Amino acid sequence: MIAWLVIILSVTLRRANTAAIANGILAPNQAEGGEVKKLGPYELNRVHCVDALEALPQLPDGCVDAVITDPPYGMKKEAWDNHIPNWMSLVFGKTSIATFCGVIGMRDYPTPDWIGAWVRQGSTQRNGRLRGFNNWEPILFYNIPSLLNDVISTPNYHDNLDHPTIKPIKLMIRLCELMPYADIILDPFAGSGTTGVAAVLLGRQFLGFEISPEYCEIANKRIEAARKGLTVKELEAGQQTLFEP
Ligand SMILES: C[S@@+](CC[C@H](N)C(=O)[O-])C[C@H]1O[C@@H](n2cnc3c(N)ncnc32)[C@H](O)[C@@H]1O
Repeated sequence: MIAWLVIILSVTLRRANTAAIANGILAPNQAEGGEVKKLGPYELNRVHCVDALEALPQLPDGCVDAVITDPPYGMKKEAWDNHIPNWMSLVFGKTSIATFCGVIGMRDYPTPDWIGAWVRQGSTQRNGRLRGFNNWEPILFYNIPSLLNDVISTPNYHDNLDHPTIKPIKLMIRLCELMPYADIILDPFAGSGTTGVAAVLLGRQFLGFEISPEYCEIANKRIEAARKGLTVKELEAGQQTLFEP
């Protein structure tokens, strides 16, 4: 009797895991409860509190399929906001890259293969010396095999305001979807982990770097909540999920 119960329970849990993978809630290696994968010294599917300029050279060549990131623009509004376009020289070989850079910062980056745009619906910013307003942000693309669309239009909406320059989750999901071949995504300037949440929701693997311990903690909480199909509040309240590995 007990043996039957154990068999029925394990089949039910395996089905729940399969559904969770299909719905993009669990990444396959987490669902199997197997060994945690690492890239160089870094465990996958979390944000590591490190300086990206030191961590990037430690990654093995070609170990990620795409870099999708939102580095500091150098506007100096925050203490961390130093313009560092040289991070790109630390990304190995011919990895696909999609990076935000700000309109002014764009000129300091290597010439991209293509420039896309994020149209910030309902959100304008002053465009400084032009004394007007700016409604879009450039996205620089490098080493992309194909690009079916180059304009992403989303409201600048956030369900979480724990980071001053958080990007909308819808935007980062659309950007990941533009690179459907990218099973392993790296974000070296992860902030509050929006790229990681998008990757988890799409059933991809993710690696993040972030220099601030405070943002790292927020990012890992958001990623864990997304993986369990919970909100951060539900995770903090100790709510359980059917899909717990
Ligand atoms: C524009 S924010 C990213 C925001 C992110 N897209 C989000 O949705 O939360 C850039 C992040 O890069 C981090 N940063 C700045 N310099 C860094 C460095 N050298 N290494 C790693 N992270 C860094 C900052 O702390 C900041 O959180």
